[in-house]
Amino acid sequence: MIETICVKETNLSPSDIVQLTNIAQSMPLYAELTQSYIFIDCMSKNAQHAIIVAEAFPELDNPLYTKTIIGKSVFESFEPGVFYSHREGKRSIIKHAINQEGRSVHQTVLPVKNAQNDIIAVLIQEKGIEHSDDIHLDESNLPIPTQVIDTVLSKDNYSLPIVSDILMEMFILTNHQNQLIYANPVGIKFIVEMSHTDQISQTKLTDLLPFLKDVYERNNDDVYVFERTIGKKSLIIKKIKLRQSENKLNTLLIIQDLTELKMKERELSMKSTMIQEIHHRVKNNLQTIASLLRLQMHQGIPEESYSPFEDTLNRIFSISAVYELILSNDESDSDSEQVNIIELTRKVCSKLVLNSPFHKIDLIIRTNNNIICTSQKKAVSISLIVNELVQNALKHAFNDRKEGEVIVEFICKDRVIQIHVIDNGVGIDELKPSLGLDIVRNLVENDLYGEFTFESATFGTHALISFNLSPEVEVYRETDSIS
Ligand SMILES: Nc1ncnc2c1ncn2[C@@H]1O[C@H](COP(=O)(O)OP(=O)(O)OP(=O)(O)O)[C@@H](O)[C@H]1O
Ligand SMILES: [Mg+2]
Repeated sequence: MIETICVKETNLSPSDIVQLTNIAQSMPLYAELTQSYIFIDCMSKNAQHAIIVAEAFPELDNPLYTKTIIGKSVFESFEPGVFYSHREGKRSIIKHAINQEGRSVHQTVLPVKNAQNDIIAVLIQEKGIEHSDDIHLDESNLPIPTQVIDTVLSKDNYSLPIVSDILMEMFILTNHQNQLIYANPVGIKFIVEMSHTDQISQTKLTDLLPFLKDVYERNNDDVYVFERTIGKKSLIIKKIKLRQSENKLNTLLIIQDLTELKMKERELSMKSTMIQEIHHRVKNNLQTIASLLRLQMHQGIPEESYSPFEDTLNRIFSISAVYELILSNDESDSDSEQVNIIELTRKVCSKLVLNSPFHKIDLIIRTNNNIICTSQKKAVSISLIVNELVQNALKHAFNDRKEGEVIVEFICKDRVIQIHVIDNGVGIDELKPSLGLDIVRNLVENDLYGEFTFESATFGTHALISFNLSPEVEVYRETDSIS
């Protein structure tokens, strides 16, 4: 029995199943000894719910269970302890779980591990509890739906509205003919709204709300969870069968309306799709501008006048590199607006080196194990700055020398980020005012709120950009995980 069901419903290995079969053999003895019900539950193949694979009942005058429940599904909302123990590998005790017959039980759950220390099942011990006449809301830390079920079951029904009026969930209780016995205010509003009538008391609920027919009929289990979409409404319906006497079966529905939540989710995902689309368009527009410039460059302009065009093309590329990086980020990542500026630097530099006439210039990027992420706006500035400084080194530092070294180094110290661009070229004799360094100075001061200086160097040029960490600029060590 246990083997057939485990093979069909779970992903357990043959040796795991043998282990569970051995445990199941001794369960009747312990059920009798402790006067409690003992079960083994395993995770279903898709891990959406658990399945009961073995049971042992004691001989009791007032039994908790009247028939076998092997093969039934167990849901987290009714038996949270089962799922907690399975996930965490720890014992759990739930004072008010809802069992397969819709009754409140005291439940102790113990994880079962195999030789490899994997959790393969949970062992459950259940004892019935008496319903108290009073509900002590303040002292209680029970999940509210459980309390309501207790109240519905208890004879003391006058306290029901006090509990259920403050709940957002709809509570609908029907008798064995599916007629309404009780609904809390949101439940009544729901029935009236969905059925377009306020004559709701004498009619079958399944006639008023035909979509509930299959909830009532489809499953024979005593507790079950359904997800339903009715028109624009998204609902989670929990069904609990409540046995009043032998042949009379009441049904409690607990309905959660997730419509607004689902709508917000959709809106959010639409917004992020729109933002992605805007990034695409910005990137494409930049590429169009670059193509137009390139066309103009080749329209009768002498080759020696190409330089300003090339400078501009490089600047356009540094901006579009930022959007390329954002678009390549994982779209599900909510932080995808952050740009890794070290990756950005690599991208910008490799393009410059590729287009450079000097083929023996080594370009070295030293990260010092830093991962620096900035907002999109700051990333555009940094991209342009690195482009100007590295381009200057490639353009001016080496003159006729075809060999040399350019280093871009990132240092983070005392909440200050430094970007060094160092070359071993001819050095700067005299600084003539020109656009390139003006762009750098402007962006460093007005966008990064930092400083731009030339450090003294025995040979070559050493440019230094420094700016402070801020919510828009974050640094991780490479060993840290970015979350
Ligand atoms: N790494 C360097 N090595 C040697 N000289 C440099 C270096 N960086 C800048 N210079 C000198 O400083 C001057 C100013 O640089 P700047 O970037 O402002 O202008 P540019 O590169 O000549 O033109 P552009 O405006 O297109 O950048 C350069 O013309 C060059 O003489
Ligand atoms: Mg320049």
